[in-house]
Amino acid sequence: TRPLKVALLGCGVVGSEVTRIITTQADDLAARIGAPIELAGIAVRRPNKVRDGVPAELLTTDATALVKRGDIDVVVEVIGGIEPVRTLITTAFEHGASVVSANKALLAADGASLHAKALEHNVDLYYEAAVAGAIPLIRPLRESLAGDRVNRVLGIVNGTTNFILDKMDSTGAGYSEALDEATALGYAEADPTADVEGFDAAAKAAILAGIAFHTRVTIDDVHREGLTEVTAADIASARRMGCTVKMLAICERSRDGRSVTARVHPAMIPLSHPLASVREAYNAVFVEAEAAGRLMFYGPGAGGAPTASAVLGDLVAACRNKLATTTGAGESAYTRLPVSPMGDV
Ligand code: NDP
Ligand code: HSE
Repeated sequence: TRPLKVALLGCGVVGSEVTRIITTQADDLAARIGAPIELAGIAVRRPNKVRDGVPAELLTTDATALVKRGDIDVVVEVIGGIEPVRTLITTAFEHGASVVSANKALLAADGASLHAKALEHNVDLYYEAAVAGAIPLIRPLRESLAGDRVNRVLGIVNGTTNFILDKMDSTGAGYSEALDEATALGYAEADPTADVEGFDAAAKAAILAGIAFHTRVTIDDVHREGLTEVTAADIASARRMGCTVKMLAICERSRDGRSVTARVHPAMIPLSHPLASVREAYNAVFVEAEAAGRLMFYGPGAGGAPTASAVLGDLVAACRNKLATTTGAGESAYTRLPVSPMGDV
């Protein structure tokens, strides 16, 4: 079987881990996909930066030329931000590539039109890594719960703010010190304002609400309050009341089922609540569905390796689909949807 050509856009915290797994686990991945993966190129900004384990001959600063090659099966986008990424992804679709992305900012701004564009070109768009790091959440909501009625999605979806609040609460660390540590560990966004002002959690809430409630939700629809107003004194006084402070994302369907709300803000949580024991950069999300009842998803919500795990899961699915649709071989593990899963109502 022919190798599947993969282009990687970005080789930072997440991209370097994606490269490591693709290169060190090549045989296992080939066995699971039914064909080997060939890393065809890696787009970065600074080609001369030292990158351990990254084949230097694959580096390029011309991401546009890479996605326009025409022989790429799957583009993995781990650059982040809106432009030039939106244009790169659209160009990849136009040239026949499926796309795997970890980019919640872009998906929360423009997910529905990206899905439509992918459909137009008969390729796929995957983004499990965009919400809650390693935790499988998009696929369970999109597929496993597709026959149920989800009424509420609630939890901690930003690792950086959970890390900061946890450090301030458990070790008495200062806000800036905790943020610096989260950044050094690769949890924070390139501009950590996105984390501490709640934009990142709001983007994830929009993506989750859109999929859970089968409607179109963008980041502009999400009420947002950041963490920057929370002081050490607030955390200490919450503790005296038997509570801790957590940054929550809450997405709800109204009782009559006719409307949906999504919001992110810091909240006091009783220490007895399961969300109170979510430490460091872990995330935890409750999904309440009519038939299933209350489900809890928990695990590492940020960081290079956990996020790369979710990216690789999507990459395997994208490669299997490519193989199935272009050669008739392989097995499709991820059902292709005829309509946008981010909402058509
Ligand atoms: P980094 O800032 O570590 O890496 C970004 C990469 O993109 C770098 O390799 C950079 O190149 C490259 N890059 C930037 N601009 C361009 C450009 N115009 N053309 C080509 N390459 C470019 O980010 P992360 O790896 O942390 O995050 C990547 C994406 O994953 C973001 O969407 C983020 O929100 C998402 N994400 C991150 C998680 C995390 O825990 N870090 C978790 C879940 C999702 P260079 O190396 O030369 O600077
Ligand atoms: N900056 C994000 C966070 C990365 O801290 O949750 C994971 O999406």
